[in-house]
Amino acid sequence: MKDLFDKLRERRGPLGQYSKQTHGYFMFPKLEGEISPRMKFRGKEVLNWSLNNYLGLANHPEVRKIDGEAAAQYGMALPMGARMMSGDSNFHQQLETELASFVQKQDAVLVNFGYQGMVSAIDCLVDRHDIIVYDAESHACIVDGVRLHMGKRFAYNHNDMESLEKCLQRAEANVKDTDGSILVITEGVFGMSGVMGKLKDIVALKKQYNFRLFVDDAHGIGTMGATGGGTGQEQGCQDGIDIYFGTFAKSFALIGGFLAGDENMVEYLRYNMRSQIFAKSMPMPIVIGALKRLELMRNHPEYKAKLWEITNAMQSGLKKAGFEIGVTQSPVTPIFLNGTIPEATNVTFDLRENYGIFCSIVVYPVVPKGIILLRIIPTAMHTLADVEYSIKAFSEVNKKLKAGEYSREKMAVI
Ligand SMILES: Cc1ncc(COP(=O)(O)O)c(C=O)c1O
Repeated sequence: MKDLFDKLRERRGPLGQYSKQTHGYFMFPKLEGEISPRMKFRGKEVLNWSLNNYLGLANHPEVRKIDGEAAAQYGMALPMGARMMSGDSNFHQQLETELASFVQKQDAVLVNFGYQGMVSAIDCLVDRHDIIVYDAESHACIVDGVRLHMGKRFAYNHNDMESLEKCLQRAEANVKDTDGSILVITEGVFGMSGVMGKLKDIVALKKQYNFRLFVDDAHGIGTMGATGGGTGQEQGCQDGIDIYFGTFAKSFALIGGFLAGDENMVEYLRYNMRSQIFAKSMPMPIVIGALKRLELMRNHPEYKAKLWEITNAMQSGLKKAGFEIGVTQSPVTPIFLNGTIPEATNVTFDLRENYGIFCSIVVYPVVPKGIILLRIIPTAMHTLADVEYSIKAFSEVNKKLKAGEYSREKMAVI
């Protein structure tokens, strides 16, 4: 029999297998300094397009002030214990009420971590008689939640309403005899492509099929909809979303998240979601910090307007410069280039070292072989000059990529 740790030494995982060559540069890079479009990477200033600080709240003076004051006043421990046992507070309840109103729902429940909250909510909402129908390109937290499900699950082709309908027909036929129900899960904004889930079309299917809709709006909250209420608000179908998930890890620039919906469903989650009832309550400074961020989002629509000004300039500028950016409908801006994985590492190196641009680069297996995806996240803190400079740099780099310059030599990185 093999020792478990010996086995792990041989089997490093899809990303871990490259850790020796990539650690500290391509993987686990350290961005230092205050969170902003200009941060330090390995001692040099870079123009940073890689953080989901969409509205620029991470380093907002009022946010920094309240975070510090709340930590000084309450410490990071309070309240101790799970909410259900000893860890509730008026601030936790106030935040839930305000979040529910922000996303136009009756009630909301906090989760300490977005990912775990999603997994746990899926686990908690369905039993083995129920069927989950979900978008095939769903985020890992949805996939993992579905993995916990003891009953049937059907994945429909990404954003393909015909495929969804077929799954719903199969699911309805299956639940007929089991007394089961159907839960459809999708994302508001898909984080790699920037494309919105077809929420309005899915909601329209409720006229024909009996299901509840769960939307992970991690990238949509704060960025989409007239008041930042999310992708359902953007598409005019927020009412049709039965379970709404928002994370604090992006527009809020914090950690944690929440689930919202009608008060019965939320009450059920509050008393049954294992990731919350068997875990310590969210620390007070996080709760108070979230309240401040929410207040800023509500009172300063100009942050979202600025985010979209930068987003529109970046996306239209890239298209004008001849770049393929897919069909994004959100601030998430993918740039699709053609090249191998070694070329992708050289592109990254050139961008960081010679152009001072830091962005995430995604390669196979996340995108098909031969594609290099530069993932650009505009924020309200960027300037039009940043956009202009970056498009020029991307154009130069793409010219070199097409000329084969990045395949000739392997750039010494680390
Ligand atoms: C679509 C989506 N869902 C869920 C999560 C997880 O959220 P958190 O970072 O708050 O755990 C993310 C964040 O990466 C995400 O992009």
